[in-house]
This record gives sequence, structure tokens and C-alpha cells, in this order.
Amino acid sequence: MKFQTTTVIVLALGLLSVIAQPSYAENENALTYYKDVLPIMQENCQSCHRPSGQNISGLVAPMAFMNYQETRPWARAIARKVESREMPPWFASAPVGVFSNERGLTDTEVDTIVQWVAAGAPAGSKTDAPPAKLFAEEVNDGWTLGKPDFVVKLSEPYVVKDEINDLNIIFYEKIAEELMPEDTWVKGWEFRIGDNGWTHHMCSSVLSPSAAAELDTTTVVEDQGEGADTPNTSLLSCVAEGGEAQMLPEGFGVLLEKGAAVSFNLHFNKEPGAGSNFTSQPEIGFFVEKKPVKYKVRNDSLYNRGFEIPPHHANYRIGSSRVLEKDTLVLNYWPHAHLRAVAARYTAIYPDGNEELLLDVPRYDQAWQVTYKYKEPKLLPKGTRIDVDFWYDNTAERAARRGFNPDRFVGYGARTEDEMSLGFIGYAEISDAEAMETTDDN
Ligand code: HEC
Repeated sequence: MKFQTTTVIVLALGLLSVIAQPSYAENENALTYYKDVLPIMQENCQSCHRPSGQNISGLVAPMAFMNYQETRPWARAIARKVESREMPPWFASAPVGVFSNERGLTDTEVDTIVQWVAAGAPAGSKTDAPPAKLFAEEVNDGWTLGKPDFVVKLSEPYVVKDEINDLNIIFYEKIAEELMPEDTWVKGWEFRIGDNGWTHHMCSSVLSPSAAAELDTTTVVEDQGEGADTPNTSLLSCVAEGGEAQMLPEGFGVLLEKGAAVSFNLHFNKEPGAGSNFTSQPEIGFFVEKKPVKYKVRNDSLYNRGFEIPPHHANYRIGSSRVLEKDTLVLNYWPHAHLRAVAARYTAIYPDGNEELLLDVPRYDQAWQVTYKYKEPKLLPKGTRIDVDFWYDNTAERAARRGFNPDRFVGYGARTEDEMSLGFIGYAEISDAEAMETTDDN
């Protein structure tokens, strides 16, 4: 009897452990937020999905995914967006693996997120969580590339009034001698515009000391075109929605001469109306290059302003070309167009007739003004032709989604409702001897 009872108990315990075993193992393997999903989101999502920071552009998303509480309500949307590859946002289909700021998840990472959501998006144990990731607002006063060496700020805040809908405006500001007592090479810069959400873009150019000397105080010019402002300036760069700060590769720099000035070329676009006004006081943080600079960087654009996109045209192409007069190291591309643009492409036609696709953006989105930055500068030899093509959709269908008028011919213009076809490139020209060296290790 006694023996039997023990057997029963032992059997029962054994049975229990058999029953318990699989579910325990399942828990071990189950995907959880803290163990599996948070590490992916820290690396690929939180740079934008965090409490809004200081920077220009729509980079910072309206919803933060910093912790489980914030993330859980979005679980289904997250699975959808990563499966469709809409998030994290990246618009170039080719080339792959050559741009330093390329975004994307691996297939395994997508599967992890999708399966975690399918299993009910469990939190798991907080002890599995990686250390929190710190972002710009917690360190460096909100500057994303580190603390700049000096900051040039618009001396007076500017009020964008209630009645303004679309405004292009340029301010000039001398770089004070206390900030920059001598000629200075800079290797990076970051534009800050405040967290207003209504700045379509900001471009900045450097004015030579002689051009700067003609400015009395802050000079303001209203209603200018985009990008290039006045003669005798050289474009530093532009940032627009979805753009990021810029740091040049080692050995590359931009020269700021003592006594130079910078421009703040701003385009605001908002719904006019009582209470819609806001204040703008942009600033540029500069990073000084203390090591010797070998390559002087220029930024400009291939452009075509002589177009008229017909009403209701579904696939209108606008192209522009440039033949390089010197051996050139290209650092980056920024295809810039407005609401009707659906695709953009940069192609190199080499002197021997071979073609190479430099950048293909088959799904252009004006809300994402991405600068495509090479990991390694790209050598294009003298005589290479660069073609930049944009395609536009001026149909009622796109108009309904993007908010423009498809019934008119659309020409070049700075207003958001006009169009642009600007293929920006950042580059440096090199001597023939240096080109030989670079070709060797390519
Ligand atoms: C470069 C910035 C950036 C990165 C990186 C990014 N997002 Fe986003 N995300 C945005 C912005 C801006 C929006 C809001 C506008 C939009 O939907 O395009 C958004 C919207 C979303 C939405 C809401 C869509 C809806 O239904 O309204 C989801 C979900 C999302 N992102 C998930 C993710 C996930 C998951 C990752 C990482 C794997 C990620 N995002 C990475 C900028 C980013």
C-alpha cells in the first residue's frame, strides 16, 4: 500500500514535470521585448522614435519607442511597417552597402519583430534589457555629432507671422572674430532650427571676407530661390526634412577664412492663420579640423530650371548633366525635388563609355530629403559625365495624396507647390598624381 502511494506520488510528480517541461522551454525561447526586440529598436528605431529633439527636419517621429509602455500600443503597426520595409526609412534601392547612413533591418530582425508581435508582444523580464541608449538631448546639449567647437547663431530671433504660408528668406551673419580669430578648416557642421516643424529646408553658404565686409549688420533678403543665394558664396550644405548633420571623412575640409560670413537660407511652409506664428533663430555648430586638410570640399548641384511639367502627366522626366573637368572624389549626393517627384537617379558615363548607376531612388518622397553619404569617397575620373534624372507624377491621384494642383503646368520655383530638379553633389577635385594613387587601391 505504502509503496503504491509513493509510486503514485512519484508518477504524479513525474507527470507534472513532463507537463511543465514543454511550457517552461517555450518561455525560455519565447521572444520578448526586453531580450529580443529592444536591442533591435535601440539600434534601428530610437534615433528617430524618441522625445523630439532640437534638430531641423521630420527625422524625429511623432511617436517615441523608448520603453515597453510606449512601444506596446504600436506593436501591430510596427510589425506592418518593418515587414513592408517602410521602417526604418531608406529610399535608395541601389547601390547597396556603399553609403554610411544606409538604414535597414536584416531578414532575421524583421522575423524577430513580426513573431514577437504575433505572440502578443510580451514584455519579458526587465533584467534581460540592454543598457539604455543615450541620445543627443541627454548629451552634448542636443548636438547630434558631439559638442561643436563654435556656434554661429542668427543674432535676432525672426518671427514667422500668422499670415505667412510659404516664405523663402535669407539672413547673413558674420562670423565674429572672437569665435574665429584666424582662417579655419572645418570638417563638420550641424544646423539647428528649433523644434518648429514648419521649416522645409535650410541651406547655408559661406561668404568670402570681401563679400562679408559689405554686410553692415544682419542683412535680410526675402523671396529668393532655393540653394544658391548670391554670387561669391560657396554652398556649405542644405538640410531639409529627413536630413542629418554632416561630418566629412578624414583629410577633407571646408575653409572658412577669417572675416567670412554665413547665410541662413530658410524656407518656411505652414498653414496661415491666427496663432500659427512661430519664432526661428537658427544656428550652425562647426567642428574644426585640427589635422592637415588634403581635399577642399565643394557642394553644388546639377540642375535644370527650364522645364514645364504638363498637367496630368503621369511620368515626366527632367534630366541634367555635367562633364567633370577634373578627377573628382565624390562624397555624397542629395537629390532634391518637391511633391510631384516620384523617382531620382544619378548615373556616371565614364570616358570609355561604360555606365555605372551611382544612386537609384525608385520611390522618391519629398518628406525624406536624404543625403546619401559614401563610406569611402568615390573616384570619378576627368571626362566622366554625371546624369541626374528625376521623374514626376502630376496626376490627380498623386495630387489627392500629396496636396497639389494637378491642373496646371508646373515650372521651377522655390515654393513647395512649384518643382525642382536639383542633383546636389559634395565633392573634392584632386590632382592627377593623387588620382593615380587612389585608382591603385580601388
Ligand atoms: C530616420 C528616422 C526614423 C527611423 C530610423 C525609424 N522611423 Fe519610424 N517613423 C519615422 C517618422 C518621421 C514617422 C512618422 C511619419 C511617417 O509615418 O512617415 C514614423 C512612423 C512610424 C510608425 C507609425 C506608422 C503609422 O501607422 O502611423 C511606425 C509603426 C514606425 N515608424 C516604426 C518604426 C520602427 C519599428 C523602426 C525601426 C525598425 C523605425 N520606425 C525607424 C521616422 C523613423
